[in-house]
Amino acid sequence: MATLSFKEVKKTYPGGVAVIHGLDAEVSDGEFIVIVGPSGCGKSTLMRMVAGLETVTEGGILIDGKMVNHLEPAERDIAMVFQNYALYPHMSVYENMAYGLKIRGLSKDDIRDRVSVAADILELSHLLDRRPRQLSGGQRQRVAMGRAIVREPKVFLFDEPLSNLDAKLRVQMRLEIQKLHRRLRTTSLYVTHDQVEAMTLAQRMIVMNAGVAEQIGTPAEVFEKPASTFVAAFIGSPPMNLIPVRVDTLGRVRDEKGVGLNVPGRLVPNHMQDKECILGIRPEHMRLHTTGIPMEIEMVEILGSEQLVHGRHGETSIVVRCPVNETAKNPLQIGETIEVGDDGIHPLHWFDRATGKRIED
Ligand SMILES: Nc1ncnc2c1ncn2[C@@H]1O[C@H](COP(=O)(O)OP(=O)(O)O)[C@@H](O)[C@H]1O
Ligand SMILES: [Mg+2]
Repeated sequence: MATLSFKEVKKTYPGGVAVIHGLDAEVSDGEFIVIVGPSGCGKSTLMRMVAGLETVTEGGILIDGKMVNHLEPAERDIAMVFQNYALYPHMSVYENMAYGLKIRGLSKDDIRDRVSVAADILELSHLLDRRPRQLSGGQRQRVAMGRAIVREPKVFLFDEPLSNLDAKLRVQMRLEIQKLHRRLRTTSLYVTHDQVEAMTLAQRMIVMNAGVAEQIGTPAEVFEKPASTFVAAFIGSPPMNLIPVRVDTLGRVRDEKGVGLNVPGRLVPNHMQDKECILGIRPEHMRLHTTGIPMEIEMVEILGSEQLVHGRHGETSIVVRCPVNETAKNPLQIGETIEVGDDGIHPLHWFDRATGKRIED
């Protein structure tokens, strides 16, 4: 068990490509942290720096308060699970899990004990003699995790470990990883580009955008109070509606063309007068046929009991998520303009248009 700290960590690849721009984060002992962000934002680079597979350009990475920047991977007491399991094809499941321990010189008995415990946890005991090619994708993934578990490391690193699995198996493995963490309580850093995976697995998450931590918080904090328009658009499906508006000196909300939108004054924070900003409303917090924002309907997607009503207000796309029965009596016509608005229950979100940062109310 261990804590993990990032102090102003920067990474520039040879040739001057700056990828991580000064990350500060603290992972507590036993915590499960998910780093989530789009492809190319620097997630793998960060993991590889923690593992010691990549140098740290500036700043420090500390495990249990001790700087590890210059330690070899083998000296860091970390185990990493990759997307492409990287199993040895010519070795059995048992040998794959035992190999790292053999290299480290553990006795045969110790190795047998550790592999047997890990195989038991991961329900691999009946597969120990098989070769990787005789396993399903999910089983291979479990062997890769087994290989990490037997090392009893201070920290687990997972780099998109489920991206090669189909959707159903991913959900199942997510549950297994949660169970595993509840049982072992090993400090874990888990990387994914999938916001649903991040929301369901994380105790806290770090939302990354182009090498910068946009927000660090629990899934609920990040969802309810996104720190920027990037986070607002990245977390949640469909993403939050982001409508460029201007609040006038009397606190009235106008769209980009100066047309007044019927947003009740009580929902506009007091210090917002005379500001260019972005109004954020989650699709599931909107209603059809209310006073508010005129929207021309472009498409309706029926999801079952719910529907996504897509439309636009001027240049801005808007999605409303609502029960199907809401429009049963009055079917929506494509091309028709209706008014949509907030549900009067959930708070609205306001962002500074210039910086994209959240405006606190
Ligand atoms: N060895 C390397 N040399 C130069 N640039 C790299 C190297 N590895 C990754 N990059 C660049 O760093 C950025 C972040 O990559 P990566 O950490 O793999 O992102 P992610 O895992 O979030 O998809 C990308 O723009 C990528 O092209
Ligand atoms: Mg990656």
